[in-house]
Amino acid sequence: MKIAVLGFGTVGAGIHEMLQKAEGLEPGPVWVRRGKADEAWKTDDFDRILADPSIDAVAEAIGGTDPAYGLAKRTLESGRHFVTANKMLVAEYGLELQKIADRSGAAFLFSAACGGGVPLLHNLALARRGDEIVSVKGILNGTTNYMLDRMQTEGLGYEEALKQAQALGYAEADPSADVSGLDALRKIRLASAVAFGILPDGCLHEGIENVSAEDIRFYQSKGLVLRLIAKAARTEEGVSAHVEPVLFARNAAEAAVSLNNNLAVYEGRFCGRIGLSGQGAGRYPTASAVIRDLESILSGARRMLPEKTVRAAADNGSEKYRCYLRLTEAFAGLFPGAERLEQSTADGSLRLLTKPLPADRMHAAAAEIRKKGGCISFAALEE
Ligand SMILES: NC(=O)c1ccc[n+]([C@@H]2O[C@H](COP(=O)([O-])OP(=O)(O)OC[C@H]3O[C@@H](n4cnc5c(N)ncnc54)[C@H](OP(=O)(O)O)[C@@H]3O)[C@@H](O)[C@H]2O)c1
Repeated sequence: MKIAVLGFGTVGAGIHEMLQKAEGLEPGPVWVRRGKADEAWKTDDFDRILADPSIDAVAEAIGGTDPAYGLAKRTLESGRHFVTANKMLVAEYGLELQKIADRSGAAFLFSAACGGGVPLLHNLALARRGDEIVSVKGILNGTTNYMLDRMQTEGLGYEEALKQAQALGYAEADPSADVSGLDALRKIRLASAVAFGILPDGCLHEGIENVSAEDIRFYQSKGLVLRLIAKAARTEEGVSAHVEPVLFARNAAEAAVSLNNNLAVYEGRFCGRIGLSGQGAGRYPTASAVIRDLESILSGARRMLPEKTVRAAADNGSEKYRCYLRLTEAFAGLFPGAERLEQSTADGSLRLLTKPLPADRMHAAAAEIRKKGGCISFAALEE
């Protein structure tokens, strides 16, 4: 099977290199920006790829939705297989692309778009066939895990931890998608689509931007370790999907995930809890997931999304958790029955431990407090 690669950045260059040695796969041209085709094996003309009958598949590593969406559509319409590492593309257009693939008989796989080298989507697509997946959750963003790990082991503040993550190339110059939890949310939406056949909309995300060094010291004094967790689970109404900081006991598996590693855990009704951990990003881990998808096509795989996958609003009103809060005292009344833990932290705010409350109420309260000029940092307690 001959493969054209779109994009020659971190991931695209890794795919191109790994294709030289992959069994049953043959490297085709690499598509680059206009005027940048400075080698015989590069091209800036996508029509040339579509006109070449020897090319069977396209692996996309451009990122974003434009021009990736148009190129994906044309690839699948031509009957060629399409494999991508692009979570934005799949979250936005995945269902539409799947329909085109169904019509043309081509494969549409995107294992690398969630978890990099950690084969979460690949396993979910296999596991759901003989089992009913109940929940999927984990540490799906290596940048924020690295930052939280440094804050907890070295006592760094948020800004210092971010600078270190940027210096090591883990965080982008604009780190907002990582630190706000949006990147992890995009990934858990894809995991939900593969596991449950529901691509949830209107999901909630709280990142780590409001976590201070003092918060970390407070949690450590309680024997707790903070991680940024993305979770999707079946509910009576559909699926829940949210991202927030979560506190774990020191002996929990999540607490042991160091540096920029990922941990994904899914639970099946019959198989129980299965954990997968490893590098969630980087050239070779991500390229290896793309190669795995291409090898799966050779063995007959054609799709990761269940048939009849739909988009639906997330149901974040049923699952409840207690939360540790640091907030402007004037807003304490929003959490009736909460236990008062500590007055006057460095910024003159209050610490509370809430009664169990649904994720949508917690996120809505935080949004209301911030809108009214107050401050809040919250972390759910894993119990
Ligand atoms: N990096 C990771 O660890 C990782 C992990 C998992 C998934 N992913 C996903 O993999 C995809 C690629 O990420 P990356 O880190 O490899 O990005 P990258 O290093 O920025 O590479 C992107 C490549 O696409 C090319 N490109 C961008 N826009 C283009 C356009 N309009 N026309 C032609 N070429 C264009 C870039 O060309 P120029 O150099 O000329 O701009 C570059 O070669 C993204 O969807 C990302 O989310 C990455």
